[in-house]
Amino acid sequence: MAIKYVPEPFRIKMVEVIKMTTKEEREEKIKEANYNLFNLKGQDVYIDLLTDSGTNAMSQEQWAGVIRGDEAYAGASSYFNLVNAAKDIFGYDFIQPVHQGRAAEKVLFPTILKKGQYAISNMFFDTTRAHVILAGARPLDCVVAEAKDPSKRSKFKGNMDIEKMERLIAEHGVENIGLVVMTITNNSAGGQPVSLKNIREVSNICKKYNIPLDIDAARYAENSFFIKKDEDECKDMTIKEIIRETFSYGDFFTMSAKKDTIVNMGGLLGVKDEKKYSDLILKIKANCISFEGFTTYGGLSGRDLEALAIGLYEGIDEEFLKYRIGQMEYLAAKLDDAGIAYQAPVGGHGVFVDAKKLFPQIPYNEFPGQVLAIELYKEAGIRTCDIGSYMLGNDPDTNEQLQADFEFTRLAIPRRVYTQAHLDIMADALIEIKNRAHEIKKGYKITWEPPILRHFQASLEPIQD
Ligand code: F0G
Repeated sequence: MAIKYVPEPFRIKMVEVIKMTTKEEREEKIKEANYNLFNLKGQDVYIDLLTDSGTNAMSQEQWAGVIRGDEAYAGASSYFNLVNAAKDIFGYDFIQPVHQGRAAEKVLFPTILKKGQYAISNMFFDTTRAHVILAGARPLDCVVAEAKDPSKRSKFKGNMDIEKMERLIAEHGVENIGLVVMTITNNSAGGQPVSLKNIREVSNICKKYNIPLDIDAARYAENSFFIKKDEDECKDMTIKEIIRETFSYGDFFTMSAKKDTIVNMGGLLGVKDEKKYSDLILKIKANCISFEGFTTYGGLSGRDLEALAIGLYEGIDEEFLKYRIGQMEYLAAKLDDAGIAYQAPVGGHGVFVDAKKLFPQIPYNEFPGQVLAIELYKEAGIRTCDIGSYMLGNDPDTNEQLQADFEFTRLAIPRRVYTQAHLDIMADALIEIKNRAHEIKKGYKITWEPPILRHFQASLEPIQD
């Protein structure tokens, strides 16, 4: 194996003890959970890779900030600390804290999208897709073709397909395209980065047609690290300079701060040009006050605002990002050695194993990604999730099961939480499952599902031979 583990640029000061379970216990637990990993109790999980969202370890500075948090209902100093940090990093005029990413979507999208319109994205994350639909519009995914081939190792597989984007605008009529969303990194395509060049091109098209551009910025720091590594024009820029340049092409950003900003709860909404969008900002504030809380706390406590202000800087530290992306590369290299396919090259926040390749015998409507997620739990107490047809759900118009472009099982790696030994356990478990994959003949069927975002709540059952 050619890859060396990049050592942690921190030491561990506090630990959380985790419970060990037996295979028999886990078989029982997953059955009780109706084969939905979201129904498992956290304490029954050994390594929790369900998400990298809100599961990060805060630093001593952030915890000190928690103690300092100003809990004034209006005008808390923690609010100003946060807004100043965010303005400094992103260069936007208006910053609204909200309680998490989907809250930013809920507050912003209905102020922009009209019923019957379309929103185009390099790929919508599931809650973002849901908020487009809830605003009465329809989401259109437009990622580059190579993203759909997990074995094709090309750079910036998260990019928007520019030609297709132009085609979609022409097809649906420019007046019917309400918004373009650039998701950086492209989570659903495997945490794949988006190049600065692509962001610039998308912005030019948006400007040409006068369509607003929103950056879905959950993993903007990881994206900037990839840009620095792989885009020549940026190799001598600091991460902060790359972020500034990236965000200069957007009109808005919506951000889950639970990822790259290394907090357990929080979100941000930014508007670049306060003058141009003054009416919209009034609507944003009204929505925020109705749904989230007063504008200077946006559904967060003062201590959350303070930790977020500090995390914004910690998350863009280059040494940290080198270690962070290094963890992904280490795990991916182990899978390469074992011949286990994943979305390659590996993305920023996890390894997306190609479950379709591992279980060619299981069709999309028996959810191969979910099959592997269940096997990983049974094998080693590792909790992951499906990013495939199970997550995608049904067509909102016809209620037919949609077929996703990929059937991934996502091993999302929380920040500053797991060590090299934990990564070795993940690789070993996958190798063990690969060796007996041919014995698994059938997947799962859904026995109950809610109408929207079903994967969080649905019940499943193994299909019998
Ligand atoms: N956008 C992207 C790209 C995301 O990955 C997420 C969340 C959101 C928006 C919504 O943010 O959870 O703070 O409301 N992704 C998490 C995940 C849940 O596991 O990938 P949120």
